[in-house]
Order: sequence, then C-alpha cells, then structure tokens
Amino acid sequence: MTKRPIAYLAGIGSATPRRVVTNTDLEKTLDTSNEWIVERTGIRQRHFAEHDETLTSYSLVAAQQAIAQAGLSAGDIDGIIFATVTPDHRLPSTACGLQAALGVAGGWAFDLVAACPGFVYGMAVAEGMMEVGLGDTILVVGAEKLSSITDQTDRSTAILFGDGAGAAVLRRAGTDGRGILSTYLGADGTLAPLLHIPGGGSADPLSEELIRDKRHLIKMAGREVFKAAVLAMSRSTDEAISRAGLTSSDIDLLIPHQANLRIIEATAKHAGLPMEKVFVNLERYGNTSSASIPLALVDAVREGRLKPGMVVMLVSFGAGFAWGSVVLKW
Ligand code: UT7
Repeated sequence: MTKRPIAYLAGIGSATPRRVVTNTDLEKTLDTSNEWIVERTGIRQRHFAEHDETLTSYSLVAAQQAIAQAGLSAGDIDGIIFATVTPDHRLPSTACGLQAALGVAGGWAFDLVAACPGFVYGMAVAEGMMEVGLGDTILVVGAEKLSSITDQTDRSTAILFGDGAGAAVLRRAGTDGRGILSTYLGADGTLAPLLHIPGGGSADPLSEELIRDKRHLIKMAGREVFKAAVLAMSRSTDEAISRAGLTSSDIDLLIPHQANLRIIEATAKHAGLPMEKVFVNLERYGNTSSASIPLALVDAVREGRLKPGMVVMLVSFGAGFAWGSVVLKW
C-alpha cells in the first residue's frame, strides 16, 4: 500500500430539512416527555423533511458546499459514494440522482448501504479507490430521511431519529501530512434482528398486509443495541488509534456517531478522552445515521473545535451490526 495519507478532506458541507421537531412537539403525540428524552438520550430536537424535500434536494446543498469549500466545481468530481439507508428510489441509486442534480455526467456513482457508519465506510472505500487509480477527487455523502422509515407511534424509536445530509470532497493527499492516517471497519450480521426493517425488501415485498403490520418501518431492541454500541465503538477507537501508530493522548478531538449521549460518554471514557475532547451535537439533530458524522464534522469546524493540524478520530456503529473508525490529520 502507498504510504499514508493517501486522501484528505478538501471540503465539507451539511444541510438539514427546514422543519424542526422538538421534544415538546413529540409530547403531543407520544407517551413521552422532554425530561425522559433529554435524560436518556441527550436529544432536544431533530429535523423532519417535508413532502417537497427529497434526500437528493438537501444532499445537493451539502455537496455543493463541500465542492465550493474545496475550491472545485462539480465537473471536477471523479466519483460519488452516497451512503444511505433511505434512498429516494429503490432504483437507480441516489448517487446517480445527486450526480444529475449537480449537472454532471461521466464519473462513477453508487450507493453504499452500511447504516450509521456509512460515511466512515464511504471514506475508507474512497481512499481505496484512490489507491487503485479510480479517482483523485471523490465526493462522499452521508445522508438520510429516517423520518420516512420510522414508526412515529413507537416512542422507543420515534424520539431518536432525524433527517439530514453531510458531504465531503476527498482529494489525493499532498506532502503536508494532512489526511487519513488509519481506517478500521467491522460487522456482525448475526445480530441483524436487533435493529432492522423486517419487510419491504425482495425477501418480503410490499403488500397491504406488510404496511398494516408496519413491517416496512424500523424495529429496534434499544437496550441490546446500546450495549453492543458501547462495545463496538470502544473497540473501534482502540483499533483506529493503534493502526495510526498513535496513543489516545495524540487524539485532539473525538467525533463519535451521535446516537445517545450515554453511549458517547462510555466510548470517550474507554478511549481515555475527557469530554472536552469530544464533539457532541445530537441535541440539535437526533440520530441521523450516516449523516451524523459529517453533520458533526461541519459543526465542529464552524464552532472552532476542529482546526488545521489537529488529529481527529471518527467512530460509528449501527444496524448490521456494522461499525468503523477513521483517524485523520485535519
Ligand atoms: O444508531 C444506531 C444505534 N442505535 C442506538 O445506538 C440506540 C441505542 N439505544 C438507546 O439509545 C437506548 O436504549 C434508548 C434511548 C433507545 C432507550 O433508553 P433505555 O435507557 O435503554 O430505556 P429502555 O429501553 O430500557 O426503557 C426504559 C423504560 C421502559 O419502561 P419500563 O419497562 O421501565 O416501565 C420503556 O418503556 O423507558 C420506557 N420508554 C420511554 N419512556 C418515555 C421507552 N421509550 C420511552 C420514551 N418516553 N420515549
């Protein structure tokens, strides 16, 4: 393998649908309370897309920001990796939809299904594609419209998920040391039923009965997922740090998947990082699956928490189960 860094993030962007739904709004339709949600998750509000807002429409805003920040135009993009579990259509990919919305054609484009760590998986795939000569400038998007697959009458999931999009332009690294220092990916498909959508795929195609039984919506065994998340996120931090040849004291900022503040705190504790070195923004967006890490990256830069030269670790876990981590020099 070529000596790292092979790829760095030249530009990032994010966008959310307009409508903000607070915990107090949810109190009106669900047997829940703002206090319970804040205490058990840390979430205070989330964004839900309205009918005129497609995944492509708000991902386009995030992608255009990332491309502009990289000082490029859409025509400079060699390929698009679009991580999502809520594509606009079953066929074709939302990556192709985004390519068309950007007004370009010719480069490659595909969707990547890895749930919450989708953006981390996408970064690792983009780096690998650069290594084998399939592009020098790759757009990685993590975006979701989880409101479309959430049972809004199920208080154990409806309070958690939100919609949003994040994007990054990865470019071939120069000699300044900026870029990806390590990647780690993992999965355990034997635990799939703990967090899944039972129906609506080709194994159990859409039917009136399926919709009546809500088999097209997310089912989650929250407590079990919680335990698995802490274990996998902890292991992922160890792997990413050691693969980069670093120790936890070298990490300037941890950007974890924003699912639950208690999972984040446990992960940080395991990694030996004080919460001052951890970025948290889930109070504003809830759990946005693959959009969570890039939404946090953008906010961390905007808030001055992530500055050039810092070493940042991204770590994520979700349905599959799948997990992964990346250490990079910003
Ligand atoms: O992004 C992919 C990964 N996903 C995650 O990481 C999510 C992981 N899981 C979690 O974040 C947490 O398990 C939840 C936030 C989903 C739930 O928190 P918990 O502390 O594990 O609660 P629990 O499921 O053990 O439920 C405790 C109680 C139950 O009542 P009883 O049986 O003790 O009477 C639930 O029925 O809380 C009740 N409950 C609620 N009460 C008010 C569950 N949801 C709610 C709610 N409002 N929204």
